[in-house]
Formats: sequence, C-alpha cells, structure tokens
Amino acid sequence: MQRLDAGLRHRVRFLLNGRAVEGDAEPRMLASDFLRQVLGATGTHVGCEHGVCGACTIRIDGKAQRTCLTFAVQLDDCRLETIEGLTDDKGDLNDLQTAFRRLHALQCGFCTPGILMSLDQLLEEEPEADEVRIRDVLSGHICRCTGYQGMVDATLEVMAARRNAAGGEE
Ligand code: FES
Ligand code: FES
Repeated sequence: MQRLDAGLRHRVRFLLNGRAVEGDAEPRMLASDFLRQVLGATGTHVGCEHGVCGACTIRIDGKAQRTCLTFAVQLDDCRLETIEGLTDDKGDLNDLQTAFRRLHALQCGFCTPGILMSLDQLLEEEPEADEVRIRDVLSGHICRCTGYQGMVDATLEVMAARRNAAGGEE
C-alpha cells in the first residue's frame, strides 16, 4: 500500500471480480464507499452502515464480510467478489440468481446483493447445507419484503441441481 499526501490518502490495490483495480482512499473511508464512490461498483448496497442489515456484504478473500465495517485500506492486496461478479461475461444471471427470480426470493431487491454473496459462500463451502443452516446464514441479513422462504427454496434447489450436475445424489 502506497502512502500519499502525508497520510491523508492511501493508494489501495486489489482484485475485484478477477480484475486488478486501484484507487486512493482516506484512512477512515469505508470499503462500501470506496467500492461505490471511487470504483463505481454500485451493485453493493448500503443500508444501516453499522453492521446490522447485511446489505453491504461481499466476499473478501472468499469470506462474506460487511463492507460498512471494513476500511477501504484493509482491502489492499485482497481478492474481492461482489454481486457484479456473479453474472457471466455476457451478463447472464447465475443459477442462484435465476432461482431467486423464479421463486420470488426478491421484491425491491435492496437486500439481494448482500444475501446472494453470503449464499454464494455457503454454496461453495457447504454444498450439503440444510434448511436450518441456510436460515442461519440468512439471519445475518434483513429483508423487509419477502419473508425469506423463497430464498431458502432457491438455495435448496440450486444445491440439489449442482449435486446432480456433479453426479452426486440429490
Ligand atoms: S450497510 Fe453494512 S450491514 Fe448494513
Ligand atoms: S427484497 Fe426488499 S428488502 Fe429484501
């Protein structure tokens, strides 16, 4: 991390959805603000700004984390995955996003990017997770619209489909 302007700003460099990016951040700038305001990556939403709602969740070095509780300078040399990285190069939705849409797992969509990133980690690390575990992950997010059932159904469906595609048992 390169220090600029007698400590007022720092050059921050990291991988964002596989692409090398960089920008300057003041020491107290939040990672969420850096993503949205400096890099223009506005898919990550900001709600409460104090770690409660989960809207700002992304994956940092694989782990779902709240960017409103992370300083931008902490992102240096990290690997970030955000909602923009879930779609493919053509902009097509991934399987979980498609299931969310079909099973009414979102309405206004404000909470959705953060929830998808938490579930993305769950799908990768715990592909056999049950409904209780899915609800445990969802308990870190506030959704005012849906009642969460569609999210649970979508996640279970995608887990089963991925197991089938991998040749395992449903
Ligand atoms: S905006 Fe980060 S948890 Fe609410
Ligand atoms: S879809 Fe509106 S807050 Fe979750």
